[in-house]
Amino acid sequence: MESSTFVLFGATGDLAKRKIYPALYNLFLDGKISTPLSVIGLGRRELSNEAFQAQVLNSLQTFSRKPAEDSEKLRTFIQAFEYTVLDVGRPEDYVKLLGHVKAREEDLGIPENRMFYLSVGPEFFGEIAANINSSGLGSTKGWKRLVIEKPFGTDLASARVLNESLSAAFKEEEIFRIDHFLGKPMVQNLEVLKYSNPVLRALWKNRYIANVQITASETVGVEERAGYYDKSGALRDMFQNHMLQLLMMTAMQLPKGSTPEDVSNKKRYVMESLRPLIKDDLTRDVVLGQYAAGEIKGNPVPGYLDEPGIDSSSRNETYIAARLWIEDPMWNEVPIYIRTGKRMKEKSTRIVIEFKEPLNDYNNLNKGNTDPNLLIIDISPNEAITLQLNTKDPLRTGKLEPVRINYQLGNPEIPESYENLIYDALRGDSTFFAHWDEVELSWQWVQPIQEAMEAGVLPLHSYAAGSHGPAAAAELLGDDHWWLDE
Ligand code: BG6
Repeated sequence: MESSTFVLFGATGDLAKRKIYPALYNLFLDGKISTPLSVIGLGRRELSNEAFQAQVLNSLQTFSRKPAEDSEKLRTFIQAFEYTVLDVGRPEDYVKLLGHVKAREEDLGIPENRMFYLSVGPEFFGEIAANINSSGLGSTKGWKRLVIEKPFGTDLASARVLNESLSAAFKEEEIFRIDHFLGKPMVQNLEVLKYSNPVLRALWKNRYIANVQITASETVGVEERAGYYDKSGALRDMFQNHMLQLLMMTAMQLPKGSTPEDVSNKKRYVMESLRPLIKDDLTRDVVLGQYAAGEIKGNPVPGYLDEPGIDSSSRNETYIAARLWIEDPMWNEVPIYIRTGKRMKEKSTRIVIEFKEPLNDYNNLNKGNTDPNLLIIDISPNEAITLQLNTKDPLRTGKLEPVRINYQLGNPEIPESYENLIYDALRGDSTFFAHWDEVELSWQWVQPIQEAMEAGVLPLHSYAAGSHGPAAAAELLGDDHWWLDE
């Protein structure tokens, strides 16, 4: 990998401190970043290089996976950071930035490879991309890449407008859209689990699978993000992006090759094969909820409407569950249940594959009582793979008993999501990023839900904080039931 300049917009922001600096540092310690390293932080406030470097150091000491103790390596790393003041709306600031980037490229003798990481609000993406282009920052002899993070629009129309403004300055293969769920090791493992295990590969189809359940439950509430979250809700914040990406990764067929395009094509196929939601059936297929007061791990917490900054008449959803169908020979007739919510009982992101009941009950001894085989993939905070099988209970007369075979990841050396993603972006590998087609098709699929919400025709169910969500979400499953965290 050749050296490059990492140009960071929003360098004094929260994401930079919590995720980006620690990720860069851990990659640096692991020897996964080419040196000499050049990071140019940008922000609206005047800041000296020294003050900026002190902020970076502080972020490492607080958030880094690996310790940030004083050492030659740490000092070299910190010295790679310089700061330039920039107002995103002032074209002349970009010209000044170009001077800074070039001077460092020459000083350090590194090629004109430039990564523009936009850790700023999405309302600035288009303007920044255009200014990068017109200032000459984007006219490099090496490569240029743009890294952005959701939200990519707030609906189909705004996502298209945003994409057009980005594509005026960057080609699709130069745009790296971060969906941090795709950086999680267990999500990256999904494809490998399927292709390297003939046992699973053979069973990964509707003949054997009864249903698929994808859950991302959180115990936190709206936190300090009332302004953003009350407009976004669970649909835009989690479902349209993270949850549908998990669906694509779970349901996609194995690509013939392993290029990012091969993978993206298979993911796109999943979205294209999703049965569109029909307006009249929405109340049957989608359940919305909002948390009421309750208890999280024994501590009382307020309801959503009593959270600071939330309008007491807000109809914003903090929970969404949906039943989806993929119309394709591999998945026909297999319901896919997806749910995500705030202030639920557990923090848990997991995929459960429920296999069909045994065709013939063993000696009729367990008629109707045999547990299904389950494959449980815990993504976070627990990282584990569990297989539930039936065995004969040796202590009882031939009764069957479910047992769980479990593999836990839990190794502190495993890189975090942002390390994986930044490393891939620096290498130019976009496999685990959201591509435009996927984003567009996801917005398209959720559009009927958005329209129904706007028209106020979808009921908003209340659920107690600390519960498993609204009771209506259980009904969504008919004869099936949610496999809860145990
Ligand atoms: C973010 C959402 O994208 O993902 C948050 O905006 C949510 O609302 C978070 O809490 C969950 O991510 P993780 O990695 O903690 O499961």
